[in-house]
Amino acid sequence: MPSHFNAPSSVITGAGALQELVPELLRRGLKRVLVVTDSYMVSSGLASRVTGDLAAAGIGFEVFADVQPDPTEANVLAGSGLLQASRAQAVIALGGGSPIDCAKVIAVLPTNPGPISRFMGRHQVPTAGLPLFAIPTTAGTGSEVTKVAVITDTERDVKMMMLDVHLMPTVALVDFELSLTMPPALTAAVGIDTLTHGIEAYVSRLATPLTDPLALSCIRLCGEHLETAWREPGNRSARAGMAIAATQGGLAFSNSSVALVHGMSRPIGALFHVPHGISNAMLLPSVTRFSVPGAVERYATVARTLGWVRDGEDDRTAATALADGLEALNRRIHVPNLGTYLSNHQTRFREVAPKMARDALASGSPANNPVVPTVEQIVELYLRAW
Ligand SMILES: NC(=O)c1ccc[n+]([C@@H]2O[C@H](COP(=O)([O-])OP(=O)(O)OC[C@H]3O[C@@H](n4cnc5c(N)ncnc54)[C@H](O)[C@@H]3O)[C@@H](O)[C@H]2O)c1
Ligand SMILES: [Fe+2]
Repeated sequence: MPSHFNAPSSVITGAGALQELVPELLRRGLKRVLVVTDSYMVSSGLASRVTGDLAAAGIGFEVFADVQPDPTEANVLAGSGLLQASRAQAVIALGGGSPIDCAKVIAVLPTNPGPISRFMGRHQVPTAGLPLFAIPTTAGTGSEVTKVAVITDTERDVKMMMLDVHLMPTVALVDFELSLTMPPALTAAVGIDTLTHGIEAYVSRLATPLTDPLALSCIRLCGEHLETAWREPGNRSARAGMAIAATQGGLAFSNSSVALVHGMSRPIGALFHVPHGISNAMLLPSVTRFSVPGAVERYATVARTLGWVRDGEDDRTAATALADGLEALNRRIHVPNLGTYLSNHQTRFREVAPKMARDALASGSPANNPVVPTVEQIVELYLRAW
């Protein structure tokens, strides 16, 4: 089957990339924008740095700063109301994956009638929206270059995965200097999200010759820089490496796919509000062990790319070293296990494991995994990760 590769029209990388925002808006004749961000970006002063540049260039703006982590339909609707009232011609997303995902859906609502749940799944956004300029600050999700948005439906407790080329930002401005303020726990969470994107894109049944080199480079950069960025938040070369890893991981998985880890991770986020990267990290070792038989050679290549295998080891040994290495990495960067993190919720977790397993399968991601699990196997994996 032919495969499509989509990316923003421009991806601007490197220190100072943020300065390119105004020129990129002006060359497209855009004079009124909505900035979608969160409260931290306002309190840290980064939002006013951006709006100061806009004002100096005579570009009108409104700011919607009420996006919460794991954005909800209510967040999208509130931002969409402000967009309509402001008559903005374009949307600027500033922050981590949460503001970027929220902005993606806000930008397509003027041209695609809701309800928002209609966009869930693959290719459910028929018409292009407003131009979107994405400025990531976490070096994690890669959302600045993906055609994916994840919005939580709080009534059904489901994180809705939407994939459509109309959700792709027009311009991504990847400035690693914006990630220097991340504390270690956030660096660990978003960094393992990036590594999971690289691994899942590479082992996915939908991997392509265009996504493989991006996925492997993402994995290699995570191996080189994640722990340094965690240990030394101000280390510029580690932050630069992780920013590129995140963007490459986004390009890779959005044009290949994620798989079982993400499929199982979203329901944990929807029901227990565990940060996305942390729930990925908790699942990654056991899901890797489960999936290795379906793609031994590919998992072995991942382990070698991370530098976790001695020369001459066979593929099976290398793939086993990968799962063990991922567990050790979690310990080194202080990712707790699920049971410790949710220690007060053990009974409820067991009760809802079958619903989470059904939601995971319904998202479609597990179908791209090297080993496609049954509901019962997913329940078992949830309990094993506990
Ligand atoms: N669209 C995609 O392709 C895609 C891919 C993976 C994950 N996601 C989604 O993205 C969301 C998670 O995004 P995220 O992990 O980037 O976190 P986030 O955007 O939820 O941010 C987490 C916290 O970090 C803070 N923060 C952001 N940048 C900071 C900085 N530079 N310094 C200090 N604090 C900072 C935020 O204010 C927030 O409090 C989830 O909803 C997840 O499902 C989307
Ligand atoms: Fe992710």
